[in-house]
Amino acid sequence: MKDSKINSFVSIKNQGQEVIKANNGFSDNQVALECIYCKKRYSSSKAINRCLDDGRTLDVVYDFPKIDPEEMKALWSLRRLSNKTEDRSGVWRFRDLMPFVKKPSKIISLNEGNTLFFRAKKAGDFVGLKNLYIKHQGMNPTGSFKDPGMSAAITQANNMNMKAVVCASTGNTSAAMAAYANRAEMLPVVIIPEGQIAYGKLSQALDYGALTIQIKGDFDLAMQIVIDIAPEIGIYVVNSINPFRIEGQKTIVPEILEQLDWNVPDRIVVPGGNLGHASSLAKGLRELKTFGFIKKLPRITIVQAAGSGPLYNMVTSEHPDFFEPVLHPKTLATAIKIGNPISHEKAIRGIKETDGWITKVTEQEIADAKAIVGQEGIGCEPASATSIAGLKKIMEQGTDRPVDPDETVVAILTGNILKDPDYTVLYHTDRLSDEYDLQTKIESKGKKIKSRFMNSPVLVGPDPQKIKKLILDRLQA
Ligand code: F0G
Repeated sequence: MKDSKINSFVSIKNQGQEVIKANNGFSDNQVALECIYCKKRYSSSKAINRCLDDGRTLDVVYDFPKIDPEEMKALWSLRRLSNKTEDRSGVWRFRDLMPFVKKPSKIISLNEGNTLFFRAKKAGDFVGLKNLYIKHQGMNPTGSFKDPGMSAAITQANNMNMKAVVCASTGNTSAAMAAYANRAEMLPVVIIPEGQIAYGKLSQALDYGALTIQIKGDFDLAMQIVIDIAPEIGIYVVNSINPFRIEGQKTIVPEILEQLDWNVPDRIVVPGGNLGHASSLAKGLRELKTFGFIKKLPRITIVQAAGSGPLYNMVTSEHPDFFEPVLHPKTLATAIKIGNPISHEKAIRGIKETDGWITKVTEQEIADAKAIVGQEGIGCEPASATSIAGLKKIMEQGTDRPVDPDETVVAILTGNILKDPDYTVLYHTDRLSDEYDLQTKIESKGKKIKSRFMNSPVLVGPDPQKIKKLILDRLQA
């Protein structure tokens, strides 16, 4: 590079650092917790996750200063040039949208966010959409979309000098919590349903030092136990009922918009389990619209597994205002095997605000979609594939708001393929059934799932001629 070019780059970089310093994003803004229903406000330093009057969930609300969208977009891009964790992290880069931290030393980060975003040709052809994009949140440091929210919740726990944090989990929350709490030198306490957690996730909680308590019962029971015992022993609950989790998770919205050069997609599709993800998308979109970054809202589309779809059942029932949990949720997509999602009210609010949609998909549909995502060369865990499966369903069956094949749609993949390798191997060896037992590894129970896009391994003796033939045959096929 010529000297003059190097000098001008250095000068731009230096000016950038000056701008970053001037807008450091750490402020003394008023922060409060607000009940989503009665709007009663509480101090943000209270370790509560529900309104003390009516038990409803809480939002974190701020007294925001005036935000200039163009200035802010430039600043967010510029921060990537910095080497400081708080500037590079895909959560804290957007800290102006979550000004609850007063100084950078409180931040607990593993450089989360800034995840892969790409146009998905094969998955697009599969569902019938020309402009399908995939946002892969499984590329986060612990391999799932939980990391951005967990960075925020553990930072808030750090703000409050917590010594321990607790969660119930279907696996990914516990992996993320264990990692972040470990970094913050807090004790992570994990309560999980025995035998229902994919090994990739369980191995993380163990390796990251969590006190891992397995119960004979399902996720919903584990969640109830967490809610009951946490206040009694003074530890902080960091499930997505924690409103600071939602704060971290909402930064996926500016990240997606940046990756689309601030062109607003028509639809964003997410799997639905405990429903924190959909709630956080709604909060991020709502705030960016209020500040004038965007004029329209993409439709939030939630996809649930058919055997575990209480929100779907609610909106399609004769009494759509009455929420009824599913008592014995069933799905091989263990991450979303949840019958009584804690954030259902926030998720419904998001669906209504964005004129969104909810659908449900079968085990076969999830397995097919997961194999297609694999063909994109990245792959995902089973629950993530519901995004693609749900889109296909909507395209084929229609809704009362038809989807145009020219729509721009972003499907979010929530977890890494390596989280649950058993499922993938059983599928490709044609042994997956809808009652596969994770713990006993008995695969012959239940209804067989067809391996429509199977790529099974080939067993041969150590015979070079046979191996050569196999390769040449495949090349010619
Ligand atoms: N996808 C994956 C891979 C998940 O781990 C989860 C939730 C979801 C989707 C659903 O997201 O709960 O925000 O609607 N997993 C939680 C856990 C419940 O404990 O790891 P949600």
